[in-house]
Amino acid sequence: MKFDAIEPGVYPELIYPPYKSTVKRGPRQPLLRIRAEQPVRDNLVPSPRILLPNDTDLTAHGNGQPLGEKIVVTGRVVDEDGQPVRNSLLEVWQCNAAGRYWHKKDQHDAPLDPNFYGLGKMMTDNDGRYRFVTIKPGPYPWGNHDKAWRPAHIHFSLFGNVYAQRLVTQMYFPSDPLFDYDPIFQSIPDLAARQRLISRYSLEHTDSDKMLGYEFDIVLRGRDATPFGI
Ligand SMILES: [Fe+2]
Repeated sequence: MKFDAIEPGVYPELIYPPYKSTVKRGPRQPLLRIRAEQPVRDNLVPSPRILLPNDTDLTAHGNGQPLGEKIVVTGRVVDEDGQPVRNSLLEVWQCNAAGRYWHKKDQHDAPLDPNFYGLGKMMTDNDGRYRFVTIKPGPYPWGNHDKAWRPAHIHFSLFGNVYAQRLVTQMYFPSDPLFDYDPIFQSIPDLAARQRLISRYSLEHTDSDKMLGYEFDIVLRGRDATPFGI
């Protein structure tokens, strides 16, 4: 598979046997190029009108504070030249501090938190920056192999400036001991590209004694592109 404007090894292997489900779902035929002019021309642009008041504060969705470590996550969405991708829609989703998703398919032995659903959305500003407040997610088992636990992560979906540009990725936290054992993280061949999925602690964005700050920039194309498709 070839991705224009992406260096080799940046995108994950689509069939990566240690990540078992990719063997069944990974494409075995050459991919077809789909022309994007139609949705661009139809101007299917995400609108700020879909945003709700607490979409950028995932700790404010219940009647009280959720359990766990409150954090703020921020960063810029930029193109290959470092230019901001403005007014672009981001969605985030994650499990709670105990490692459980608010989803009927997640039945593993960890508690739900009645004050945390784990969904947020936001638009980038004029500098391409996004920001949201949440709880640091926990690791969770996923059954891929014996002792398979995902490193703590937040899922990101980026819509760019039109829906047809949608890209999906995951953000991780520094120094997670599970990186070496996670075939999803390891399915990205290039070590430097993998490292670009790891957020960094930010003293600047740490909010006094309220919450720790993490910074995660997303580069859409080029030499420093953020891996997508995981
Ligand atoms: Fe996940």
